[in-house]
Amino acid sequence: MKFFIDTANLDQIREAHDLGVLDGVTTNPSLMAKEGIKGVENQYKHYVEICHIVQGDVSAEVIATDYDGMIREGEKLAALDPHIVVKVPCIADGIKAIKYFSSKGIRTNCTLVFSVGQALLAAKAGATYVSPFVGRLDDISEDGIALVAKIVEMYHYYGYATQVLAASIRHTAHILQCIDAGADVATCPLSAIKGLLNHPLTDAGLKKFLEDYKRISE
Ligand code: G3P
Repeated sequence: MKFFIDTANLDQIREAHDLGVLDGVTTNPSLMAKEGIKGVENQYKHYVEICHIVQGDVSAEVIATDYDGMIREGEKLAALDPHIVVKVPCIADGIKAIKYFSSKGIRTNCTLVFSVGQALLAAKAGATYVSPFVGRLDDISEDGIALVAKIVEMYHYYGYATQVLAASIRHTAHILQCIDAGADVATCPLSAIKGLLNHPLTDAGLKKFLEDYKRISE
């Protein structure tokens, strides 16, 4: 399973990259706003900076919600760097735009996906990635991971090449559940990725190794 980090924060992106396991980055307008990056030019510069750190797929979202606007913005975003994946919301004009981008060889991430039907449309339009939002479904007492598993199964059954990118991952257990569900990618906060390292037996084992080594090194 590939790991993307779900943030626009450069320090966190660098930290995850330095760990050596980072495959890409996803951003969205809320995450860009959290970093206070104002103005289109600065936002574009920020995306390029992220691409230079990661050298993996970097999702940059269009703001327009009409077809022409999405095409204009998506083409500008895609031209920023070969690693950019244009993130498009799962609405009617978005599906049309994904179809257009796919015909032009521009890679896309269909976002804000909450049902198998939406995932089917994204795949038929030729999306590179589809992003079911796990945590937001859990928030309303639905089962986000079950949706990921259903989409994975449907894509395998029909042979769609679209990769399932589990998004809105909130904690480490979600990542483990994504593995069980067969997600191609999980995009996670840094804390959830680092949480995978935690095990009390690792800490206790290392402490004992170091204590024992100290006895033979004095
Ligand atoms: O990748 C989508 C993600 O940023 C949404 O996460 O926690 O706002 O639901 P969240």
